[in-house]
Amino acid sequence: MKNILITGGAGFIGSHLVERLLAEGTWRVTVIDDFNDFYDPAIKHANIRLHLANPNYRLETADIRDLSRLKEIFERSAFYCIVHLAARAGVRPSLTQPLLYAETNINGSLNLLELAREHNVRQFVFGSSSSVYGENTKVPFSEDDPIFHPISPYAATKGAGELLCHTYSHLYGMRCVCLRFFTVYGARQRPDLAIHKFARLITEGKAIPVFGDGTTRRDYTYVDDIISGVRTAIDYVDSDYEVINLGESRTVELRELISLLEKELDQHAVIDWQPLQPGDVPQTFADISKAKRLLGYNPQTQIEEGIHRFVEWFQRTRLSDEL
Ligand SMILES: NC(=O)c1ccc[n+]([C@@H]2O[C@H](COP(=O)([O-])OP(=O)(O)OC[C@H]3O[C@@H](n4cnc5c(N)ncnc54)[C@H](O)[C@@H]3O)[C@@H](O)[C@H]2O)c1
Repeated sequence: MKNILITGGAGFIGSHLVERLLAEGTWRVTVIDDFNDFYDPAIKHANIRLHLANPNYRLETADIRDLSRLKEIFERSAFYCIVHLAARAGVRPSLTQPLLYAETNINGSLNLLELAREHNVRQFVFGSSSSVYGENTKVPFSEDDPIFHPISPYAATKGAGELLCHTYSHLYGMRCVCLRFFTVYGARQRPDLAIHKFARLITEGKAIPVFGDGTTRRDYTYVDDIISGVRTAIDYVDSDYEVINLGESRTVELRELISLLEKELDQHAVIDWQPLQPGDVPQTFADISKAKRLLGYNPQTQIEEGIHRFVEWFQRTRLSDEL
């Protein structure tokens, strides 16, 4: 059995990864999460409810900004790998709380890299974001494209995280794989993200805020595909530092996304048109040839099927919440 540390393991993506690793039966999984109130912590507690019963699961309620607390956790177990997903996520709130984003996403990441170095952790997988590409106009976005013009504090902190990973890999030979996730969705998606927020508002008969004219485009990635990419990155050994896009490599206009949701929910969306928000990028579109080559990544879920499955989950959980 190998020890693995998942930071942010009570969150949306982290809880799916934990589920996958526990199902394999060959990992002792430690999760660090601070259950902060960026969204309702009760959702995070529900995400891990089934994990808690597994003897190979250990929960550490801790803040990655708290170095002395992290030290205690690293003293207890020798980790083979760290998958670092804990972060202040979300672009728009980063404009109002840039210091909190920097403290968590930069200083918190540095705390983990430092402890990984001290404890000779061989593998560090970092959850980065497509937002680092800023207003890149060259599509699809390739890992070789420059990322020097982020347009939100969140994007800048994710770029900084990648730079720190490179530094630690270069100086200490720690293998770092930075995965740039492109808008992830699926069961347990964060309630602040468009698909989940829209589904909730449409169901409640409320207007959905649409920023811009509905022509912004996103490469939406189904969570199972992201997890398969993260899983192979844990085993990746062919070089010491890589940045790899994980997307679906298909770009969907916001208007098209809303139509798909209307169809699956069988309800009409009322739209509250709003001006474009500062920090939002006009488009994302992943070139995934590197992920295919290095990780054997092969995303399976097209947006139509993914939205169908998301709505199934959404309606099932809503129903059980009401009972
Ligand atoms: N969901 C997406 O579309 C998406 C896209 C690109 C990148 N990402 C990145 O993937 C990672 C996971 O995102 P998610 O959507 O699952 O978000 P999430 O908010 O559901 O999960 C993040 C988890 O980290 C925890 N956390 C935050 N700050 C912490 C701290 N200081 N100490 C300990 N734990 C802390 C939170 O409580 C939460 O459970 C994040 O790093 C995010 O930036 C997500």
